[in-house]
Amino acid sequence: MNLNGIKITWLGHATFLVVTPGGKHMILDPWVTGNPATPANKKSIDRLDYMLCSHGHSDHFGDAVELAKAHNPKVIAIYELCIFLQKKGARQIAPMNKGGTQQVGDIKVSMVNAHHSNTIDDNGVSVPGGEPCGFVIEFENGVKLYHAGDPNVFGDMAIIRELYAPDICMLPIGDLFTMGPKEAAYACSLLKPKAVIPMHYATFPVLTGTPEAFQKELKARGVSVELITMKPGETR
Ligand code: NI
Ligand code: MN
Repeated sequence: MNLNGIKITWLGHATFLVVTPGGKHMILDPWVTGNPATPANKKSIDRLDYMLCSHGHSDHFGDAVELAKAHNPKVIAIYELCIFLQKKGARQIAPMNKGGTQQVGDIKVSMVNAHHSNTIDDNGVSVPGGEPCGFVIEFENGVKLYHAGDPNVFGDMAIIRELYAPDICMLPIGDLFTMGPKEAAYACSLLKPKAVIPMHYATFPVLTGTPEAFQKELKARGVSVELITMKPGETR
């Protein structure tokens, strides 16, 4: 699909760096330093305008505090995560909750549901992080991107389709802690995106879902969607 000026770099697992058509830098689920899938030459981030966090698990949030302090991005997350980050030194927070939409600079962000769990590892102490969520981001060129976070498949993905009609979806396929290929294919039948980017697989041996298995499940279900399989570090 034509991203029309948006540049997406997969940093491995659920972490993406997205450059907007207007040149703003956004990170989704910031986890790079401890992320075994992030290539060494992509571990240092030199600029961030927006930071979006789906939940507080360390494989999505491990670098949130440091990156917020280093680059002063606008932090977009559920209320509890924003307050946590503010207490740790984030200077620009844009808290929200599920069902809400806000314009932040040149992006419009809607927070949507995600069935998962959510805690934050605060230096070895597990603290509550509010509820996990997903995001639908509408760019100034009209392209809409859904980052699901870490959910199972759930029926209200049909509502996400009806209300926001995302063009491109980032869906976990690794299984065990999230959807696997079968569930992700069902999710595509509900979300009906033009393109899907699988994520949250192969980072650790226990995440056994593969793009090949996902492709098979999509075919078996008769879902027509462009499957964009990226390599960690690759930009589209
Ligand atoms: Ni998680
Ligand atoms: Mn995860």
